[in-house]
Amino acid sequence: MNYIPYGTQCIEEDDITAVVETLKSGYLTTGPKVLEFEDELKKVTGSKYAVAVANGTAALHIATMNLNLKPDDEVITTPITFAASANCVLYCGGKPVFVDIDEDTMLIDIDIIKKAITKKTRAIIPVDYGGEICNMDELSKLADFHGLEIIHDCAHSLGSKINGKYAGEYQGQQIWSFHPVKTITTGEGGAITTNDEEMYKSLLRFRTHGITRDKTQYSYPYKNSEELEYSTWYYEMLDLGYNYRLTDFQCALGVSQLKKLDRFAKRRHEIVEQYNTAFEGLPIKVQKSPQWSDPVRHLYTIRVNDKSKRDGVFKTLTDKNIGVNLHYIPVYLMPYYKKIGYKSGICPIAEDAYDKMITIPLHQSMTDNEVEYVIECVIEAVK
Ligand SMILES: Cc1ncc(COP(=O)(O)O)c(C=O)c1O
Repeated sequence: MNYIPYGTQCIEEDDITAVVETLKSGYLTTGPKVLEFEDELKKVTGSKYAVAVANGTAALHIATMNLNLKPDDEVITTPITFAASANCVLYCGGKPVFVDIDEDTMLIDIDIIKKAITKKTRAIIPVDYGGEICNMDELSKLADFHGLEIIHDCAHSLGSKINGKYAGEYQGQQIWSFHPVKTITTGEGGAITTNDEEMYKSLLRFRTHGITRDKTQYSYPYKNSEELEYSTWYYEMLDLGYNYRLTDFQCALGVSQLKKLDRFAKRRHEIVEQYNTAFEGLPIKVQKSPQWSDPVRHLYTIRVNDKSKRDGVFKTLTDKNIGVNLHYIPVYLMPYYKKIGYKSGICPIAEDAYDKMITIPLHQSMTDNEVEYVIECVIEAVK
């Protein structure tokens, strides 16, 4: 069997045509395809505003800039995520506080969040691990009660729904990633969605050096000034922003890929169902779908009995040309986090899951043969 990656892009002829057409057009960046991609994103996320950016990490960074964190302000997140979900808090001078996961769903445990909230807590960054979506109905109520902001890390969950609603229908900001292993891709790419107009306006500035050409935002005496009517050269830098723009040809790819989201989601769903059925009765744990979640799954992880078994199964599957991976090493166990004072033991369920987990292949390009092969190999390896 040829190598089966744990995740990979699915690029078809029409995707290539869309990119080539844009390369031949007048705009390589900051042109009409960016606006078109943002408009399409609004539809599939249920939000009023969307800002396309260079990658999901940039999306997290500028969404966190919108919180105006002060030193020592705390932001709660999960350790079972990619480091970027917590790093954004450090970029902005705050302190990430790690809250343990629910053992079955592997999502941040809301009951533990309640206990972790202090006078210094400013925000929560829930992460839709593997595409299973967090309970935003409950989290929104909790955030309202304590006056907290939410940055919902939806990097894994494009297309997933909470009790029938898209993530973008909720308060706060949502961030998205279009890295090639995600359900749709723009190569590198990301976005922030929100229903808050002021946040949207500042995200547009943060994406491009803190600069605006919107007269209504100008400083005195230029705000809405008639004098500037013909001064097309004039702009103002209002914040210390970045160049986090996404190119037009990447957005053209994004528009083309978004047309396939339903098909990609359906195929992922079929594979997850096949895995779930095949693994019933085996001595492994699979991620459970909570009752509020209608997911488009990004990852499929299995958990075996202990670390040595995990290492054995990992090696066996690797030897069989299966691209296994591990999502994730708890963020605070990273040497950088240890260097800045975090200790092991903060989230015992996450650490236990880390010792036992393996990510097996899940992507829309998998053939039936490949799915069957992975199933056979997992059953053999686990037994
Ligand atoms: C949960 C999560 N958040 C954020 C990111 C960052 O996205 P990107 O790789 O596009 O910067 C990732 C990336 O894999 C991720 O898995």
